[in-house]
Amino acid sequence: MDVKQLDEFAKKIIFEAGRNIRAAFSYDIEIETKSSPNDLVTNIDRETELFFIEKIKAFNPDHRILGEEGMGEKVESLEGVVWIIDPIDGTMNFVKQHRHFMITIGIYVDGVGVLGYIFDVMREDLFNAISGVGAWYNDSPLRKLQPVKIEQAVIGINASWVTPNDRINHEKIMELVRTVRGTRSYGSAAMEIAFVVSGKLDAYISMRLAPWDIGGGVIIAKEVGAIATNFNGKDFDFLSMDTFIIANPTIHQLILDKYIEEKK
Ligand code: IPD
Ligand code: CA
Ligand code: CA
Ligand code: CA
Repeated sequence: MDVKQLDEFAKKIIFEAGRNIRAAFSYDIEIETKSSPNDLVTNIDRETELFFIEKIKAFNPDHRILGEEGMGEKVESLEGVVWIIDPIDGTMNFVKQHRHFMITIGIYVDGVGVLGYIFDVMREDLFNAISGVGAWYNDSPLRKLQPVKIEQAVIGINASWVTPNDRINHEKIMELVRTVRGTRSYGSAAMEIAFVVSGKLDAYISMRLAPWDIGGGVIIAKEVGAIATNFNGKDFDFLSMDTFIIANPTIHQLILDKYIEEKK
């Protein structure tokens, strides 16, 4: 497989999809809900996923697509070439703020991440990586992450963590929030991952993410030395939902050991 050619093709269709999404703000955006009143989807999420499927199938009909909106075929294994796509990560931001949403894509070959992309559609900022070659932010190389102490860390975490819940020990999370320098919550998992790989955040944690939220980001993470796992310290399970932490290597294990305790 010609990785460079695949990378050029992926970038081309990501930029084109971005232009289409920006143009969509001049038209009506139809908003629907999915699993709950706060789980939004729009015609633009679906159209963008379809756009990718059509382009990728024309490029190579053997490539398979696992997308959030389920417009591709059912993907039950990562055999062959699989594109894991979130056409809009941060749909609520897309609808409400018209900014702070990402296109994110990971390209996997027999389960191994080869190419990763996170594209901030409104800022036209691209974070990307070629496995084993390097990672870039708008074509400038991303540096390896520098050591950080937990007291100096800024972490991405959302409000569901700081309210009592039946999934994690809430006291320990409050201790984490008290210990770190600051917390941020951006409403797009891919954006928070992009910030960790570029050192703007030192960690991001989520109790439940899907493969398409992180499929691009974890490939970029490897290239800069960020560590991305589930709460058991194992690789994220790409065929289901899973817990997720990505962090600077100096604080990844510490956060898991000291601050995250799942309720059984
Ligand atoms: C969501 C965003 C959000 C995260 C949710 C995701 P979507 O993705 O990444 O930040 O907290 O878990 O589902 O639905 O906007 O693509
Ligand atoms: Ca969604
Ligand atoms: Ca998402
Ligand atoms: Ca989405």
